[in-house]
Amino acid sequence: MHIPACLSPVTAVIGAQWGDEGKGKLIDLLAEDFDVVARACGGANAGHTIVVGGKKHVFRLLPSGSLHEHAEIVLGAGMVIHLPTLLEEIGLLRDAGIDIVPRLKISHEAHILFDFHKEIDGVLEERKAKSGKGIGTTRRGIGPAYMDKAARSGIRMEKLSDDLDMLLRERAMELGAQYGITVDAGMEQKQLQDAVAMLGNCVIDATTLLHDRISAGKKILIEGAQATLLDIDHGTYPYVTSSSTTIAGALQGLGIAPKHLGDVIGVAKAYCTRVGAGEFLTEVEGETGDRLRERGGEYGSVTKRPRRCGWLHLPDLNRSAMINGCACWNITKLDVLDTEAVIPVGIEEKNGKAVMKECTGWKTSTVGVTSFEKLPKEAQDLIALIEKETGLPVRYIGTGQKREEMIAR
Ligand code: GDP
Ligand code: IMO
Ligand code: MG
Repeated sequence: MHIPACLSPVTAVIGAQWGDEGKGKLIDLLAEDFDVVARACGGANAGHTIVVGGKKHVFRLLPSGSLHEHAEIVLGAGMVIHLPTLLEEIGLLRDAGIDIVPRLKISHEAHILFDFHKEIDGVLEERKAKSGKGIGTTRRGIGPAYMDKAARSGIRMEKLSDDLDMLLRERAMELGAQYGITVDAGMEQKQLQDAVAMLGNCVIDATTLLHDRISAGKKILIEGAQATLLDIDHGTYPYVTSSSTTIAGALQGLGIAPKHLGDVIGVAKAYCTRVGAGEFLTEVEGETGDRLRERGGEYGSVTKRPRRCGWLHLPDLNRSAMINGCACWNITKLDVLDTEAVIPVGIEEKNGKAVMKECTGWKTSTVGVTSFEKLPKEAQDLIALIEKETGLPVRYIGTGQKREEMIAR
């Protein structure tokens, strides 16, 4: 399926809820019309799933546009990169007949995320859990890697080919004393060597590369990871991730000036999910929550944790649209609501509670529908409600997992 994009030369896709909205699927569809696909921040806490030709691919560090063999792939300066995970992903693509290395560019300013960051993540989570304040992180080391970056003790990709033996041994001693963990400096060093062998030539000044591409009139697609409500500043702190997940963070993470930015597409499910702890005003538990979880396959693509499920909350979309300057929406997973008789939608927040409006369900399959006119009237009404309450057009509507199951208007 090819969606004629007609999008601006620098376009971004940003999650409007708590992640897992289906950003990967849209990126994969749009990437056909872009020359470069770039991830800006975060790390392997992301899990972006796409289903093409009956095969499922889960991207964690690589952008979801990676299957398009014409596209240059950028991992930006704002990222924290666990190299063994990246090598594993590259290997999986290779098994699928795609060699991404020749078109992969990794910012020399991105930070290396070590195994010890993951261990520290676990220790910190357990400490917090003891006082009932666990965040429910993905335990991929994200917080500790950004802690090192902010403390100015992180190690950047530009150091990949250096001899880091001494430095890693010192770190091992220090972290052992601080967190009671055992750091295998030799193993970390070995992982770096494996990465140098494969990726040595990929590490470049990605910021200049992006500027060169923009000057040459090439089209750049920015793949947001995590989502607005998980943003370190604008999210539901402290139950957030440790990076800036909004459009401002994406531009910062890539070193692209705001004047180059065109459209920002906000992505939101037709309902809502969250993995990990924190507020969720429209959460539903019991039978209904279980049904949404089963129908939507709401289990973490990274951690396999069951996602908490609930209804769409339009004030969240409005806030995300405001912060990111969204031009339009991709409302995903409409088909998951096919069996609901009544679909509650949060339309307002009053005294810390969601005010719900009950929409009538359509009780018929929308799976694979590709034109808006073919949607049942009640589904069209739900989309119209989202447009009215957010003041933005719904340009893309997801009707299934597969690449071609999408309405583009
Ligand atoms: P991301 O992190 O935002 O890229 O989203 P994830 O990939 O973590 O989670 C979205 C899940 O929903 C994935 O399993 C997708 O294959 C699936 N998905 C995406 N869009 C649709 C849709 O329109 N309908 C259905 N049924 N599944 C979808
Ligand atoms: P994508 O890109 C959903 C959540 C974690 C946890 C909090 C902090 O696939 O949408 P972290 O490991 O980042 O320190 O965890 O953020 N989280 C995500 N939830 N989708 C994601 O990414 C997420 N990345 C982090 O569950 O609540
Ligand atoms: Mg995900």
